[in-house]
Amino acid sequence: MATDSPRVCPAKLAGTLDSNLRKIFQDPSKILSPYIKEGMTVLDMGCGPGFFTVEIAKMVGPSGKVIAADLQEEMLKILKKKIQGTELESRIKLIKADEDKINVTDKVDFILIFFVAHEVEDKDKLFSQLRSVLKDDGKFLIVEPKHFHVSTEAFKLTLKKAKDNGFNVQPGPKHLFSQSAILTNR
Ligand SMILES: C[S@@+](CC[C@H](N)C(=O)[O-])C[C@H]1O[C@@H](n2cnc3c(N)ncnc32)[C@H](O)[C@@H]1O
Repeated sequence: MATDSPRVCPAKLAGTLDSNLRKIFQDPSKILSPYIKEGMTVLDMGCGPGFFTVEIAKMVGPSGKVIAADLQEEMLKILKKKIQGTELESRIKLIKADEDKINVTDKVDFILIFFVAHEVEDKDKLFSQLRSVLKDDGKFLIVEPKHFHVSTEAFKLTLKKAKDNGFNVQPGPKHLFSQSAILTNR
């Protein structure tokens, strides 16, 4: 089912999210290696076509697990096709999320939401549900596009909602074209 919301990046743009060009300025392994270790359970919330999911599955290894959740069935289909028949398939659980329900129940060590939060209308609901699945000693990396897509002010408001829902918020790593924060349970 496609989503009708104009906020949500349509599946027809999956190719631009999953390009070799993007890898040059947003290399998933460079961005995630400080946080993800073998054996972890990781949630890639709003995974899209799986630009980060595939790399995360390699990083967690055969003893780890990735939960890849997205609102759009089409995005999950693209990811499914990419991993089908590979050794990564059994490490990746695909979840169809609803607009205001993440539909994830597993407890996770790490959450990534990359370029997703600005597409979610009810951020309070999102953060409270994500907090309920993050392990006590878990970490959460939130990355949003910068400037005209998501203003500094809008990102601050998003982080305030994270704080209101019980997360401790620290500045995240600096990457080109993006702004980020690291969230932990208080
Ligand atoms: C701009 S894309 C980014 C995809 C991926 N994180 C990446 O960086 O390549 C945003 C994704 O978030 C998904 N999304 C938006 N709102 C969502 C929600 N409430 N729950 C789950 N996924 C959502 C969209 O369907 C889309 O695939």
